[in-house]
Formats: sequence, C-alpha cells, structure tokens
Amino acid sequence: LKQVPPLELGIKYFEMYPEERDPLWQNPCLYKRHLAIWSTNKSCDRLPKFLVIGPQKTGTTALYTFLSLHPAILSNYNSPDTFEEVQFFNGNNYYKGIDWYMEFFPIPPNATSDFLFEKSATYFDNELVPMRAHGLIPKAKLICILIHPAKRAYSWYQHIRAHNDPIALNYTFLEVVTADDSAPRKLRDLKNRCLAPGIYVQHLSRWLDYFPARQLFIIDGEWLKSHPVAVMHNVQRFLHIEPHYNYSQLIRFDPKKGFYCQILSEDKNKCLGRGKGRLYPNMSKEVTDYLRQFYRKHNVALSKFLKKNQYRIPDWLEEELSH
Ligand code: A3P
Repeated sequence: LKQVPPLELGIKYFEMYPEERDPLWQNPCLYKRHLAIWSTNKSCDRLPKFLVIGPQKTGTTALYTFLSLHPAILSNYNSPDTFEEVQFFNGNNYYKGIDWYMEFFPIPPNATSDFLFEKSATYFDNELVPMRAHGLIPKAKLICILIHPAKRAYSWYQHIRAHNDPIALNYTFLEVVTADDSAPRKLRDLKNRCLAPGIYVQHLSRWLDYFPARQLFIIDGEWLKSHPVAVMHNVQRFLHIEPHYNYSQLIRFDPKKGFYCQILSEDKNKCLGRGKGRLYPNMSKEVTDYLRQFYRKHNVALSKFLKKNQYRIPDWLEEELSH
C-alpha cells in the first residue's frame, strides 16, 4: 500500500475511473453525512419541487405563466443568458454546481406548502438530463406537454425563421425535413432540431428509466390551448397543491390573440408576447403527409408506451393512429 498526496491521488483515481470525471450532483439533504458537512447557511428548501421539462414549442411558456399565477407556486428568477430559463441540467451550466442553481430560487416563505419550480424546455430531449435531475431532485415531479410532433417541428421552424436564421430563411420547411445525408451540415442540423425532439417515446422512456411514471404528468398541448382551465385543474391535482385555484378566475380566452391570457381587469388581459402564438401559413399537404409517415412508427410506439404506463392517450395521437 502506498500513500500519495491528495492531488496525485485524485489524478490517479480519475485515471482508473474515467467515467466518473463528469460530476453527478446529488442532493446533500438526502444524505446524513453530506448534510453534516454542508454549510449551515444553505437551505434544502431552495430546490424545485417540480420541473416543466418541455419539449420546446408545445406551450411551455403558457404553462409556466399560468403556473406562476398560483399563489403557492414560485418560479425561478430569470436567467440573463437564456431569457427566463435556467437550463441547469443540460449543457455547461451543470458544471457551475448546486449553489449556482439554488441562487435562481427564492427562499420560500412557507417551505412545506410552497412549490418552487422551473421550466427549461430543453430538458425533455437531452440525454443526460433525466439522470442528472434524478441525482439532485429524485422526488421532484415532472410535467411535459405533447402536441403532434409534426406541428411541433413546424412551430420550431417558424420560430427559427422569425429569428432570421439564414438556413430557415433560405429553405422551405419541406426542404428542411427532407434534407438527406448529402445536404449541407447546417441544413441537416436544423432538420434534426425540427424532428428529433418529436420522437417522444424515445425521450419519455429515458425519463422513466430514472423516475417512476407516477411522478410524470403528461399534458395534451392541444387541450392546454383550448381548455387551459381544465388542464390547470388537473395539474393542481397532480401536484397536490393547496389552495386549489379555479383558473377561470385567472385566465380567459382573448379573441384578438386567439389564445387564453391572464385576466388583468374586467376589460384587460395580459397575453404572451408576439413570439408565442405566431401567425404563419398552414403546413402544406405534401409536408404533412411526409411527416405523418416519418413519425408513424414512433407514434405507434408512443401509444403503446403510454398505455403500458397508464397514461391517457392524447386526442391528437388517437386521431393520428386512426388514419
Ligand atoms: P406557435 O407560436 O407556433 O403557435 P413554447 O412556449 O413551448 O415555445 O410554445 C409556443 C407555443 O405555445 C405556440 O406556438 C402556441 O401555439 C402555444 N400556446 C399554447 N397556449 C398558448 C397561449 N395561451 N398563448 C400563446 N401561445 C400558446
């Protein structure tokens, strides 16, 4: 047996176990030994009780906004880098550590009944996030929203176009989604960002590798658009949150926006910005048929997965599979 100084020992250790070089933050509050050496001015209450995980373009901002209207639900402070989203569990922010993450949350006035949460729509389809989220907040509840993946892809394309992305401006949606291996790399990247998150079954399975199905709530995004009051009722039941709010007193349909918005006064609503609920032409029949074909087997697998895990099949999926 040989003794070596700590630094050398560390180097040696990671040579022997290179797979452990990437940290996996665990919750200090769940381990007696960790808690004992954790600074006394830190609080276990500053971690989210639930996450809205996405995917992007399914109505996550509307859900985030509606949730934030509830007096017992507290969201994260806005991140200057990614607008409102913290995006901790994906990408390089993770390496900034738990303290960095906790700084995004207020200290809840009533830790037992208040619910901290954050919404980062990029979590849904990131390979590492379920494992990392489970490492730190294994008891957290998860909420995701599903719309027809073809619609999601098109909404993403329109979003990127609205941000003047040269590839999205130069290629039609059909050209993007049908790009083959010989297409320029940037075009293939955009195709991937349009299509990959919509292979829902792949991503959901990964989440359920780490979290029990009862901790995940799946919202039909079409219902969130058309019946958000009912959706918010179900979300509150899933969270077991008190008091139970009747959202018909907080939100109403705004004919000008074409979506539900926050009620400010008798004749005034506050809707989401221009970037949410954009106006753009319908998808052509050609691209609709192409994407229907592309997603068919994934949607069939999704339906089996949902049934197996006792989730309700969203109406759009029932309809799709009846074609
Ligand atoms: P479009 O702009 O393509 O219509 P996200 O917030 O996840 O980026 O999702 C944006 C989508 O949310 C919008 O896509 C819109 O269809 C949908 N949405 C659902 N409810 C909404 C609401 N109350 N106000 C605005 N957009 C809403």
